[in-house]
Amino acid sequence: MKKILMVTSEAVPFAKTGGLADVVSALSTELKKLGHDVRVLMPRYYHIDRTVLKKHDEALGIWLGRGEEWTAVYEGVLPESEVPVYFLDHERFFGRDGIYGHRADEGFKDNAARYSLLSRGAFQLCRMLHWTPDVVHCHDWPSAPACYLLKREEQDKGFKNTKGILTIHNIGYQGEFSLDDAVYLQPEIDMLNLSTLEFSGALNFLKAGIITADKITTVSPTYAEEIKRYDFGFGMDGLLNYRHEDLQGILNGIDYKDWNPETDKFIEPDNFSVNKISGKSAVKKKLQKEMGLPVNQKIPLVGIVTRLVDQKGIVELFRPGFGTMYSICKDMNVQFVILGSGESWCEEELNHLSAELPNLSVYIGYNNRLAHMIEAGADFFLMPSRYEPCGLNQIYSLSYGTLPIVRNTGGLADTVENYDQEKGTGTGFVFDDLRPDVIYNVMKWVVETWEERREDIRKMRKRAMKKRFSWEDSAREYLKLYGE
Ligand code: ADP
Ligand code: GLC
Repeated sequence: MKKILMVTSEAVPFAKTGGLADVVSALSTELKKLGHDVRVLMPRYYHIDRTVLKKHDEALGIWLGRGEEWTAVYEGVLPESEVPVYFLDHERFFGRDGIYGHRADEGFKDNAARYSLLSRGAFQLCRMLHWTPDVVHCHDWPSAPACYLLKREEQDKGFKNTKGILTIHNIGYQGEFSLDDAVYLQPEIDMLNLSTLEFSGALNFLKAGIITADKITTVSPTYAEEIKRYDFGFGMDGLLNYRHEDLQGILNGIDYKDWNPETDKFIEPDNFSVNKISGKSAVKKKLQKEMGLPVNQKIPLVGIVTRLVDQKGIVELFRPGFGTMYSICKDMNVQFVILGSGESWCEEELNHLSAELPNLSVYIGYNNRLAHMIEAGADFFLMPSRYEPCGLNQIYSLSYGTLPIVRNTGGLADTVENYDQEKGTGTGFVFDDLRPDVIYNVMKWVVETWEERREDIRKMRKRAMKKRFSWEDSAREYLKLYGE
């Protein structure tokens, strides 16, 4: 049995901005099922209800460079599991709306202090619990400093046999701050520490993690290769090449408890399965109606659920005068339903497009029920990502027989098999270049296939629904790594 502490900024159902939250909870639950002692540590953000949590008597004193911060510890549990979740409660740092910032495109000014507190808190919590984990498993930049602290301080103070693992869910976000903020992690800066903490004149949390983690993983094998390249590495490619022997891609699974057309409570009573698929058109009908689109089974309905950020290909799709969505909707017999939030220019443009185009409908905001309706009711799901470490939405889509249309990158490449028109094989539509004309052409191909080769679509649907990306397989790979 292994003792594992997951240190994270997000975990469903408590806090989520993206797939990271799904992954931390599902992986922890699976590891627990396999008999391991897994615990999760995260901040108690303002919106997380304290009254349903248990408060520990002892508070943690966490040294944060310029002084000690006192945090209360609350405890809960991941739903339908026995995985304990510890919450650091600190009014000044976490008692406000928002996780990383009030808006998706703007981080809080004191994020360096907030997430240093989390990373340092990991070790203080273990002391309080008299529990020494075999592995401290960090996720992305917010908890990457825990790997640094383990190596540079804590291994000499009782964590001699503990190893640090860093999982990179997205290398585009690195936690870059003023070098003055290094004080939270490092009371005395010498050359060794500086060369670990600094990148391009700034403090860089992710870099510190990449250098000091015992093992580094990312969330698909293809992305593990891509981030070693200049065009995908966001400056970390050199370091990752240096550490290539310790870098591995482990594909995410999805939670089939939540994302399964047979049991999905959001589509009741129209649940469907590979052998009884009629419910799918019922959901399509409801979705068209709810979103104000012409109700018509014959028109292919394409879904998009996404954070509206550059990573997801929004410039090529939506940018006024350049993006291709307008032409696609004008020229083709197709409908789009789009759910997302993020960059303001894009939200505004989407509202314009939906006012002008009768076959495009938009919901700006976050809406889990609608996300489920779209996965279930759409015929296709478009994800033209610039880069995609893993991507969960295309895997959800496969499970609902909603054929993904994806760019050949990262986890999209590892999960979707391109349609072969000659053989009729594949589970979706895959294209190489992220250019408006390429997206236009692939959409044309999709619509033609829908109209002229419906039998192929039916077969692809079945094939897609039978695919399984289970957490058990991924969890076993992590366990192998912990073992090493
Ligand atoms: P990323 O983590 O890069 O955003 P993923 O595909 O891994 O991409 O995960 C995105 C997750 O967030 C999925 O569970 C998806 O359903 C959800 N999601 C994204 N945007 C929204 C939204 N506007 N409303 C509801 N769910 C959303
Ligand atoms: C990140 C990535 C996404 C991945 C998710 C979970 O948010 O952008 O591709 O699926 O993390 O690992």
